Amino acid sequence: MFFSLRIFQAVSFVLLLMSMIVMTSAHSVFAGSSNSLLDISQDGKLLACSNRDSGTVTIVELATHRVLREVPVGKYPEGVSFVGNSHQLAVAIYADDQVIVLDALTGKISNRIYVFDEPYGIVSSRDGSSLYVTLDYPGQVLEIDASSGTIRRTIPVGKFIRAIAISADNQFLLTTEYYTGLVRKIDLKKGKTIDQWPGGKTDNLSRQIIFHPTRPKAYFPHIRSRVTVAHGAGSIFPLLTVIDTEAGKGKRKTRIPLDSLIGTRVTSNPWEVAISPDGKTLLVVFAGTDDLYVCNVLDDNYREVMARATLYMGHNPRAVRVAADGKTFYVYNALDFNIVAFATDSLKAVATIPVTENPLSEQVLLGKKLFYSARQPMSGRLWISCASCHPDGQPDGKTWHNPEGLRNTQSLAGMAWTHPIHWSADRDEVQDFEHTIRGPLMQGRGLVRGKINPSLGKPNKGLSEALDAMAAYSNTHKFSISPHSKKGLSESAKRGRAIFFSPQTACASCHCGPFYTDSNPKSKKIIRHDVGTAKWDKTEKMEPAYDTPTLLGLYRTAPYLHHGLANNLQEVLTTYNRDDQHGKTSHLSPTGISDLIEFLKALPYENPVPQAQKTDLVEVKN
Ligand code: HEC
Ligand code: HEC
Repeated sequence: MFFSLRIFQAVSFVLLLMSMIVMTSAHSVFAGSSNSLLDISQDGKLLACSNRDSGTVTIVELATHRVLREVPVGKYPEGVSFVGNSHQLAVAIYADDQVIVLDALTGKISNRIYVFDEPYGIVSSRDGSSLYVTLDYPGQVLEIDASSGTIRRTIPVGKFIRAIAISADNQFLLTTEYYTGLVRKIDLKKGKTIDQWPGGKTDNLSRQIIFHPTRPKAYFPHIRSRVTVAHGAGSIFPLLTVIDTEAGKGKRKTRIPLDSLIGTRVTSNPWEVAISPDGKTLLVVFAGTDDLYVCNVLDDNYREVMARATLYMGHNPRAVRVAADGKTFYVYNALDFNIVAFATDSLKAVATIPVTENPLSEQVLLGKKLFYSARQPMSGRLWISCASCHPDGQPDGKTWHNPEGLRNTQSLAGMAWTHPIHWSADRDEVQDFEHTIRGPLMQGRGLVRGKINPSLGKPNKGLSEALDAMAAYSNTHKFSISPHSKKGLSESAKRGRAIFFSPQTACASCHCGPFYTDSNPKSKKIIRHDVGTAKWDKTEKMEPAYDTPTLLGLYRTAPYLHHGLANNLQEVLTTYNRDDQHGKTSHLSPTGISDLIEFLKALPYENPVPQAQKTDLVEVKN
């Protein structure tokens, strides 16, 4: 009797131990363990979403699917994460360079944490003591004390870091580089990278990553940008990459083309993925084709996933999350401003929850939907939308081998003030992109019925409401102040400013006015300059003269020049300006060059618009 009791005790102790191990297993998924625009509290009661266009977060009570409140938080909120098992919500406010913590039930903001620049992804440690935030620029992870808001550590990680996920044992983080898909594993004790998985040569736009609850795997959606093929059926591809998170196990990495998961059905712009708590179902939302794949997770270390169903979503679905009980999943349709709840077994929509009012004008909203759409009338082959290369108006970090020569993707910020457009100034209105829509790149039906005018010919404006709307949206992108000048210009940048405006360098003879360009949307005359840069690209077909680009926002838009061959500003001023054809720089000492670079990185250090309004510049509205 005594003996068997001992065995009983021993067995139950082992069972208890085993269940503890399962509970704290290194992989299990918990609230806030991966970055997303949606999060569900650990008790399963609340759902939060960030509304980028409205500048708010919305809190939904899941039992009733009722909106509890919408809280204004700032410009361009991105990642949201509940803090541990509480109802405190942490939000990364991308354009305000802040992380805020608020009480989801009262809406009261308890902490506002100022960060260097562009916080994007955010996760919480399981116990809620720490928050981990990615800074897209300059590529860091911050560890923040969740209760005091103090930044405990700044971990340099790479370039343009967006995605972040934390392991359930809180031992390590995974992050991805937005423009390369490189995944890093960061040991939190050491505070440094201990392993990495380089992306493929063409991998691009990877903004989210999740763990599997039990297998040592992580999944992240992204695209491939095949810059050598500027063609509708061969340049942009949707991908899911699966990595083996533990060294020495499995294949390390499996790449799954999402355009051949269901026959030859094409999808585009995968934005986020989610996994069910039992680890058996994986969901992917496609923000270009407006659909979602429901996949079975295979435990085969080979194919990894098999698509089970396709569901049609609203406009521009950007996020997906599964409830803690696995019975429901939620999709955020960014341009319908709602969340739709689906039953996991029947895959039927069970509720539609409007989360915010449309804050955009009807025209800009229509234009934005078109800009993000990879379906007709924008795109004939479903692979590409304008946003595949200009996500949220930012560049895709790539240089495309266009028929006219190498062309580095531009930022659309401030474009309304800096027309004409394209490096060669071969377009004078965004409506001219009807040529791109109808051309080999997108192969869409187009937004105009009948013939259109050549790019620099008679206006294409006024031919179609939809085309004017797309132009209106494209012209909305604004500059934000450079993080390098938040505390004013440094001494070095001030010396650089004097060099920039000196008659010797003559930089300001072309890069003039509040936008640092001699382009003027009002002017009929198109100004181009030969600054000796054409010779570096043997494939160039256009004249060797280019539009003077604005210099605002340069700090985050490498590579540089129309051909994208200059990897940094130093190379623009030296390697690619050996004969002083592009302003005079050969007389400058190394300190002079680095002062000039400090100045360029600090642009804009003030909002150019009020100044521009005092001159003869005009803003293009649509
Ligand atoms: C395959 C990637 C790709 C796609 C898709 C794409 N673009 Fe671009 N975009 C580029 C590149 C590369 C440039 C620079 C080209 C040049 O200057 O000749 C550019 C330049 C531009 C510019 C000029 C910006 C400036 O400041 O001069 C605008 C506006 C623009 N694109 C809008 C659009 C619109 C609208 C669509 C969809 C109809 C679109 N793009 C689709 C890659 C792309
Ligand atoms: C004669 C007119 C002219 C002068 C003078 C001039 N630039 Fe430029 N700048 C241009 C043009 C045109 C381009 C685009 C060239 C290209 O892409 O091949 C350009 C491109 C640049 C770029 C790259 C921008 C990007 O987004 O890739 C930088 C940086 C720049 N200039 C800085 C300067 C500085 C600093 C000086 C003074 C040393 C200067 N420029 C003098 C006309 C000028």
